[in-house]
Amino acid sequence: MSAKIYTFFNQKGGVGKTTTTYLQADAANSKGLKTLLIDTDPQGNLTKSTSQEPLPADTAGLADVLTSRADTTAQEVITPTIWENVDLIPTPSRALDLVRDELLVTPTGRENRLKKAIKPLLDEYDLILIDCPPSIDMLTINALVASQGLIIITQAALWSVDGIAELMQTVQAVQENYNENLRIEGVVVNQFIKNTNSARHWLSDLEEAANSQGMKLFYPPMPQAVRIKEITESSSSLQEVSNDELARIQRVYLEKLIGEEI
Ligand SMILES: Nc1ncnc2c1ncn2[C@@H]1O[C@H](COP(=O)(O)OP(=O)(O)OP(=O)(O)O)[C@@H](O)[C@H]1O
Ligand SMILES: [Mg+2]
Repeated sequence: MSAKIYTFFNQKGGVGKTTTTYLQADAANSKGLKTLLIDTDPQGNLTKSTSQEPLPADTAGLADVLTSRADTTAQEVITPTIWENVDLIPTPSRALDLVRDELLVTPTGRENRLKKAIKPLLDEYDLILIDCPPSIDMLTINALVASQGLIIITQAALWSVDGIAELMQTVQAVQENYNENLRIEGVVVNQFIKNTNSARHWLSDLEEAANSQGMKLFYPPMPQAVRIKEITESSSSLQEVSNDELARIQRVYLEKLIGEEI
């Protein structure tokens, strides 16, 4: 096998990138897909919610793999998660902030660090899911260069046509310069509040804006639900609840991504 690699992306904060990465890992686990999570956000939120044990700040992590000051391999920092089939390349401290700054002043090869680092792992996983920081920086660029596809995560109040334009510029720059195979898989509308007129209007405006850029929305939108926050905060599984509508939506997204019935 050779892993399919996806990045969950938006330069805006708080739209649900980490939550969606978490829920997709949960869905992949329930399907028995061997999955690797990569936390490229110095905030380390994905690491906190998914690692099997709390990780001390001096645990080796992604920063050690990406820096030129160490020769740590990706294999060496992989750690278990709350799910049997899912592993994690963690970010247990703010050290990744320093690596982002280091990459900025690195003259060559800085965009390909992550891609190179995970190459030896591709045959060991079905799926690699990358959570991004809320910015367009060297860490995000590394994630996009390493990926075959990206999923844009957005939220009613925070989406704007300007936001799409800025995001598209980055994606196009990565496609032109480093990764011509990078595909936009679609837009996940997160924290959707159904049954209001403004939400319906907004959704159709968004669909139009996305279509005009050649992008598709994932359907149905992911509802806003307190339970989602509770699931990630308590490191539990949405998929364990049978016949759950929110769990089903996440399975539909995964199915769309990997193109298989689940
Ligand atoms: N569908 C949802 N329903 C309810 N709450 C949600 C939902 N999705 C995300 N949240 C909550 O919204 C907040 C932001 O989500 P999250 O951390 O996933 O966003 P993010 O894009 O990763 O943020 P950042 O850019 O800071 O990394 C969190 O408190 C999370 O629990
Ligand atoms: Mg996040």
